[in-house]
Amino acid sequence: MSALNKIARTLVSNRRGILAADESIGTMSARLEKVGVEPTAENRRVYRELIVTTPRLAESISGVILADETFHQKLSNGRTFPEHLEDIGILAGIKVDTGAKPLAGAPDEKITEGLDGLRERVAEYVRLGATFAKWRAVITIGDNTPSPRAVRANLHALARYAGLCQEGGLVPIVEPEVLMDGAHSLERCRQVSTAVLTSLFEELDLMQVELDGIVLKPNMVVAGTGGAEQPTVADVARATVETLRETVPASVPGIAFLSGGQHPEVATQHLGAMQNLDPLPWELTYSFGRALVGPALEAWRGDESKWGAAQDALSEHAVANAAAR
Ligand code: G3H
Repeated sequence: MSALNKIARTLVSNRRGILAADESIGTMSARLEKVGVEPTAENRRVYRELIVTTPRLAESISGVILADETFHQKLSNGRTFPEHLEDIGILAGIKVDTGAKPLAGAPDEKITEGLDGLRERVAEYVRLGATFAKWRAVITIGDNTPSPRAVRANLHALARYAGLCQEGGLVPIVEPEVLMDGAHSLERCRQVSTAVLTSLFEELDLMQVELDGIVLKPNMVVAGTGGAEQPTVADVARATVETLRETVPASVPGIAFLSGGQHPEVATQHLGAMQNLDPLPWELTYSFGRALVGPALEAWRGDESKWGAAQDALSEHAVANAAAR
């Protein structure tokens, strides 16, 4: 078993999943402001400390994805975040993309940037304790989107990122997110997700990425949030697993879903329903952001006396997702 395969397997097995706490400074600041917390670097640090010091977190969380800012910050006990995670038996990951920017000539679509200097940044993150990385590409469903150029540009960048990570010793989490925004049907999401995942594996093959040393982080196949007809939990589970079966090689050790803005309980139900389908060639787990930490942030709201209640909220959702597996 290669070192990358071992890390990838650790991330997705034993009923554990990944916690995405890697919101960019802009996104994290907006989320803090929404709950009445001043968006300072210190408050972002305190909030992330609340998350990673949640009791028994390692029982249901295998890895935590951090943002660059957090990676360089320290907990109150003087340990860096990656050091603390190692202390408690959780792998430290790092988001290495630098965000989705407008794609030239395509006003409604984005391209994720961050390849320049990535080889050197990967080396530095490895030195600081990272074992895996994340890069998120976003694909928009609309009347005229996704365009072939947006799909190709994004998946090509994802594959180049994955190759650089593996070369430097990090397991790449490969995240091609088909967004839930819009009024599209489940079937349309399925068509787009199938096309995206098919192209993704062509690009990964072209870049000679070792599939047994990645974790795939896709969207679930759902209807758009503005869609008139919302599918049942069973429909989402079936459509998602069928799409993955058609597109994802069995050599990929695990698939860890993003939550994408689904209600936390609904995301957990979808995950649970998928496990009850026929035996699957890969582990199916979670790499949720909002569906894990949203309720904790709401409970905390910057109030020190709510620290325990917020950690309980995170714990409850982490345990529920582990149980759904
Ligand atoms: O890149 C997206 C995050 O890692 C997952 O966040 O579960 O809130 O969609 P989410």
